[in-house]
Amino acid sequence: MTSTEETLSNLLKEDRRFEPPKELAAEANLKEEAYARADSDREAFWAEQAERLHWDTKWDQVLDWSNPPFAKWFVGGTLNAAYNCLDRHVEAGLGDRVALHWVGEPEGDSRSVTYAELKDEVCRAANALTALGVEKGDRVAIYMPMILETVVAMLACARIGAPHTVVFGGFSSDALATRVVDCGVKVIITADGGYRRGSASALKPAVDEARAKCQDRDGHIVEKVLVVRRTGQDVDWDGPETGGPDVWWHDVVEQASTEHECEFFDSEHPLYVMYTSGSTGKPKGILHTTGGYLTGAAYTHWAVFDLKPETDVYWCTADVGWVTGHSYLVYGPLANATTGVIYEGTPDTPEKGRWWKIVQDHKVSIFYTAPTAIRSFMKQGHEIPDRYDMSSLRVLGSVGEPINPEAYVWYRHVIGGDRTPVVDTWWQTETGAIMISPLPGVTHGKPGSAMIPIPGVSADVVTEEGESVPNGSGGYLVLTEPWPSMLRTIWGDDDRFRDTYWSKYRKEGWYFAGDGAKKDEDGDLWVLGRVDDVMNVSGHRLSTTEIESALVSHPKVAEAAVVGAKDEDTGQAVVAFVILRDEAGDGGEDIVADLRQHVRKEIGPIATPRQIMIVPELPKTRSGKIMRRLLKDVAENREVGDVTTLADSSVMDLISDGINAGKAED
Ligand code: WTA
Repeated sequence: MTSTEETLSNLLKEDRRFEPPKELAAEANLKEEAYARADSDREAFWAEQAERLHWDTKWDQVLDWSNPPFAKWFVGGTLNAAYNCLDRHVEAGLGDRVALHWVGEPEGDSRSVTYAELKDEVCRAANALTALGVEKGDRVAIYMPMILETVVAMLACARIGAPHTVVFGGFSSDALATRVVDCGVKVIITADGGYRRGSASALKPAVDEARAKCQDRDGHIVEKVLVVRRTGQDVDWDGPETGGPDVWWHDVVEQASTEHECEFFDSEHPLYVMYTSGSTGKPKGILHTTGGYLTGAAYTHWAVFDLKPETDVYWCTADVGWVTGHSYLVYGPLANATTGVIYEGTPDTPEKGRWWKIVQDHKVSIFYTAPTAIRSFMKQGHEIPDRYDMSSLRVLGSVGEPINPEAYVWYRHVIGGDRTPVVDTWWQTETGAIMISPLPGVTHGKPGSAMIPIPGVSADVVTEEGESVPNGSGGYLVLTEPWPSMLRTIWGDDDRFRDTYWSKYRKEGWYFAGDGAKKDEDGDLWVLGRVDDVMNVSGHRLSTTEIESALVSHPKVAEAAVVGAKDEDTGQAVVAFVILRDEAGDGGEDIVADLRQHVRKEIGPIATPRQIMIVPELPKTRSGKIMRRLLKDVAENREVGDVTTLADSSVMDLISDGINAGKAED
């Protein structure tokens, strides 16, 4: 049985159902009727959602789809994303509402900012960035820990029309350099470091290294590096005195004026670029623009979480380095005048109940996290969360990977006290906002299923040939109509944008998501995972090729193949098969540790292989394509499948021999 078939047959046995709580259903933001209303006139429905925002000039056309796949939404409209997230709330008299409760990792280190305060800080930062030479259209990279200044930096960029590209602070200097060069970044905003797992972890040295690499390797100059002091640790400083680009945030932002008149930009003005893994080694810069993106983020955040901004306290645990941190920590919640929580550190510092303590302390009512986190808490048992009063919770969300039914039921029961619906939300960096999810006041919960597209979105599961599959069958997940928060292109690479997402179903004009899915007997959707060479480790997308290139860049490695193997904790784990160069002999006794370290350095800790197997050969077809399917069988301890298309069918025996020898050494 392949792993997909296995999942399918397990899912068939799942028949638990959870009805929406009556009070929630009665007061729900979106009711059943919205589905039909959206279907009958999709553009009118989206226009209604766009009215959630402040437009300086109203659009004259909802959608221009005359040049697919390049969409324009709310054509002719102008708006400012930061104004929508801050100023208009202050002007509406909500200035005293807390925008964000920030919780630092060291206990007691916390700060709450109101909408009025956040607006002032964003205006200061906008003025400071302008003074540093950042102009409309210039790109700014943000490489930061989870602190308030990070949110301020993003909104300040948005305010002056400088698209930001946030790079996850766990990525290495190489990964940062690649993104800085690809995006043509002029200024980097960073911090000395942040707190993780009980100690200060540095960020600035990686920026220094990245800056040097950009210059030496690609001749790309980063003009300024703006540094927030967070941990107070020593940093190498290359400021104006030495002709360098480093500037302290507190030297330029704190002095700046809180007066800042913002410009209103075209609806299609670029808001940000978010890099994500694709099936080649080169990360893709996903471009989101302003009007459509903000409409999608605000509408879905309001509808899917049933947000009541006057009373809810909302916490999304995602790092701002991922798209979830953009749409559901910054743009969606702030556009909706939500009171949110942002936490700097790891879930188990200083003790395992830290997250639940935050829920208790801040009376969090809506909580959004990833299945990998839920599974790790599940392993620790219910005793830890049971110690905290979490009766404030009313809606729980999940994102990033399929949530297995057991984790769903545990989440609902132990964290939600069986009161809370769980919304399993499917979407991608590319979609900008949630596409498939239950509505907590309408849809009953089915553990493991993301259910149906939300009102306004149109999806299907289809065969290779583009036929809609009947209920009870699986196929490829597609989005069949454009939507406002869709990616506009891949930064600097329109061809790759077309090829990756729009060529498979070109005739039909559908967006190909790269996920496999199934329709159950009721027509509800179960997303099964990637069908390309992209893995999903702890809800983070990694490309097999990217890790293979990292391995091959090690001087002792001749060839490498990477697969994602099922993993109880992280969903999938990276397993690498490596052929060493002849001159490297057996590589030495530390070879596996060396290679793991090498991948950490090249990409970052999340890409570190769980296992590296040194093998004499890799299984290849006659045309030289690596048969990852067979390696996956090995990695998941299954009997190896059909080997008849291998150029040399004895290769798999050699590999098993090599692995067994490896095991003996462990
Ligand atoms: C997977 C994260 C099943 C899927 C927002 C998708 C999911 C990829 C779910 C996008 C879910 C995300 N159920 N699978 N609820 N949510 N995925 O771009 O494979 O980091 O294509 O965006 O995660 O990951 P990305």
